[in-house]
Amino acid sequence: MKIGFIQNAPLFGDKERNFEGVRTLVKGVRADLLVLPELFATGYTFTSKAETLELAEDQSGRTADFLKEISLQTGATLVGGFIEIDKERVYNSLLIVSGNTVIDTYRKLHLFNKEHLWFTPGDKPLKVYNINGVRIGVMICFDWIFPEVCRTLALQGLQVLAHPSNLVLPYCQYAMVTRCIENRIFAITANRIGQEKRGEDDFTFTGGSLICGPDGTILASAPLDEPFVSVVEINENQADNKMITAYNDVLKDRRPEFYR
Ligand code: ACM
Repeated sequence: MKIGFIQNAPLFGDKERNFEGVRTLVKGVRADLLVLPELFATGYTFTSKAETLELAEDQSGRTADFLKEISLQTGATLVGGFIEIDKERVYNSLLIVSGNTVIDTYRKLHLFNKEHLWFTPGDKPLKVYNINGVRIGVMICFDWIFPEVCRTLALQGLQVLAHPSNLVLPYCQYAMVTRCIENRIFAITANRIGQEKRGEDDFTFTGGSLICGPDGTILASAPLDEPFVSVVEINENQADNKMITAYNDVLKDRRPEFYR
């Protein structure tokens, strides 16, 4: 299958401009799975809860429609971040969209920094989706620092992880190599670029989106400071081989009775 990321440079609060930027980036791209950053259409650096409410949507909103458009155009399942409102709660979420269908949303479980002021922590279980015969899982940005997330998905049979991100610390791009090796999975980390100076905060997003394979090989990577798209062909079935040596299976050899 063909998997890829779209690394964009959102302008805070301007969804239509950000959609147009993504349209330009994906011109001519064909793939099976494409991943956009966390909050790719809204920007990230909020100064009040009111701002998140103003930009929030449900799963039949403008961002879902946009992802349907890009899915139909590219032939790919799209995974991208948005602000989700449900029963007056606001979540840092992502949409999984295939053609004209919203398959599901996922709500970030582990909120980062001031996200705790703006969002309700995720309340949906981690889940692997069978999409056109491929077992796909999702997490959002800071979820990476909790190895339990990838491991939980791996134990459900995960082959390809879609990981929308807005990274500001210098660790994740290295850590994803380990997440892939320890679970023998493919991962697509789609990060954003640019600077957002709003209120008391001044964030520079680190770009460097990457696709990593089950043996830790970096299959694609983006520059640190430019919008970028990359698509690579993978054999997702390689993620079904959990053997490190003939004697070491990374899932079956776990000793959970000692992990407490
Ligand atoms: C992050 O979770 N956006 C760092």
